[in-house]
Amino acid sequence: MAKRHPADTGSASRQAQGFAVGRVSRLMRCVLLALLALPCAVLASRADEPLQDLKAQYRRETTVPFPSSDPYSAAKLRLGRMLFFEPKLSGPGTRSCATCHNPALSWGDGLPRAVGEQALTLRSPTLLGVAWIPVLGWDGKYPTLEDVAIGPMLSPANMNITEREALRRLSAIAGYRAAFAEAFPRSDPHEAVSRTHLEQALATFERTIVAAPAPFDAWIEGNEEAIGERAKRGFLLFTGKAGCAECHSGPNFTDGSFQDIGLAAEDDIGRGRLFPSSVKLQHAFKVPTLRDVARRAPYMHDGSLPDLAAVVAAYDQGGIDRPSRSELIHPLSLTPEERSELVAFLRTLTGDPQPFEAPELPR
Ligand code: HEC
Ligand code: HEC
Repeated sequence: MAKRHPADTGSASRQAQGFAVGRVSRLMRCVLLALLALPCAVLASRADEPLQDLKAQYRRETTVPFPSSDPYSAAKLRLGRMLFFEPKLSGPGTRSCATCHNPALSWGDGLPRAVGEQALTLRSPTLLGVAWIPVLGWDGKYPTLEDVAIGPMLSPANMNITEREALRRLSAIAGYRAAFAEAFPRSDPHEAVSRTHLEQALATFERTIVAAPAPFDAWIEGNEEAIGERAKRGFLLFTGKAGCAECHSGPNFTDGSFQDIGLAAEDDIGRGRLFPSSVKLQHAFKVPTLRDVARRAPYMHDGSLPDLAAVVAAYDQGGIDRPSRSELIHPLSLTPEERSELVAFLRTLTGDPQPFEAPELPR
């Protein structure tokens, strides 16, 4: 995945408007950064942006994009919601998608690494905002959301069922036959219960999984009381000195790219498995959303960091210096106060828990 270069975001006009104080501090930053042999344009361009512009980049998107290959319909959504909670889609009938993508746990499972029929090596990612994620999976092995559904079902370590058996079980239930026929009215009713339709219905439901508004959203809409002063300073660090916003950008706090942040062990190559000759994709994992992040510990693709303080400490330390590590990752020299301001900011991205009623399943 090409990384959007941060320098591209600082427009010339914005820099030309820079007033005196801004220019002085920017100069000082450049001197400091030059001492650290870092390109000063990279961080300076962000810090010069007026606060309003910065905030606007994070405004929640509420219109879910549905692809023309799998357009929205209410009947498809209804079917997808049932399938998502359906334990009959696992071999032993004990586990549904919602076991690991649990709405009560911000659509994750709270475990360091997922547990299916066997222990898995990766943490269950949240599905919040998944409609906007261009390529799926920690290493981006799934090109579309539709492609993800069958993977966990067929994997012996996960749900451990065959496609044939899954479709047989659904076809045996009149309520599902009717729900598939309603969701896919143009197909022969005898063929409506198919793998493609199952994938499309699940993806339609998953696209509707979005984060509830958080205190941060109220703040960027103008309510100065919505978050504390320390969190506001944390936002400035996030978008400035700490460089977090270079990857955690946009309404979902991710640019969807794959990066080595210097944490994964030597044999844990992530996206490097798919791109063996790319230096930068060794140990690279998907930049995750930060929506609801306070409720989704432990963190990272392997659940290796227990809390947000540990995450910020790891970034401050800079991780393993190796050719694949992103240029944006390096020791940050944050003060203890700055570290806790960053954590205070991260906490404002979590809204109140959203009650979610599991659907009644046809039997
Ligand atoms: C045993 C736990 C478990 C179950 C059950 C499970 N998943 Fe997952 N899910 C995971 C893990 C772990 C990953 C990360 C896999 C990877 O990156 O290769 C994942 C990744 C995903 C992703 C990619 C998200 C992203 O941001 O990249 C989607 C979408 C998804 N699962 C949907 C589903 C659906 C639909 C089902 C049911 C058919 C399901 N999952 C069942 C654990 C589970
Ligand atoms: C070079 C891009 C990049 C930068 C800069 C960056 N991150 Fe990340 N962030 C990532 C990637 C990639 C992951 C996932 C890594 C993994 O799973 O091993 C991640 C994971 C996280 C997580 C864990 C989320 C979860 O669900 O597991 C948090 C929290 C986080 N980053 C916060 C920050 C903060 C705070 C900063 C600034 C100090 C920052 N990031 C800077 C790319 C980046």
